[in-house]
Amino acid sequence: MANVDDPGQKDRAQPQYSKPGENKLGPSLAGVFGRKAGTEPGFSYSSALKGQNITWDEASLNEWLQGPGKFVKGTKMIYSVPDEKDRQDVIAYLKTLK
Ligand code: HEM
Repeated sequence: MANVDDPGQKDRAQPQYSKPGENKLGPSLAGVFGRKAGTEPGFSYSSALKGQNITWDEASLNEWLQGPGKFVKGTKMIYSVPDEKDRQDVIAYLKTLK
């Protein structure tokens, strides 16, 4: 994941996303691929995201990571991955998180 504006942000984001059941600033992303949006137990989602009928697959993650707030108006996630190649790498990584 090159081209992340604030490398510290990536470092903070990575570990918090890889452990199953661990929700911090964002929900745990373990098993997120194939999961319905807004359904990780114990995480307090925005009503914007909870109200969506989205299943996380390549297409929806690609849209989401380009601009969460454009894809889901009112979401609490403001972080995006604008670079195409980085985004594909991130999605490939998410698939490995079980
Ligand atoms: C490459 C890094 C990131 C990826 C791949 C990512 C991916 C995701 C995905 C797929 C969701 C939806 C999860 C679900 O429906 O269960 C989500 C939600 C969320 N993420 Fe991220 N995220 C990243 C970085 C961040 C960062 C850095 C923050 C905060 C500093 C953050 C905060 C949130 C929040 C608050 C939500 C819930 C949004 C809502 O309820 O509207 N994310 N993220």
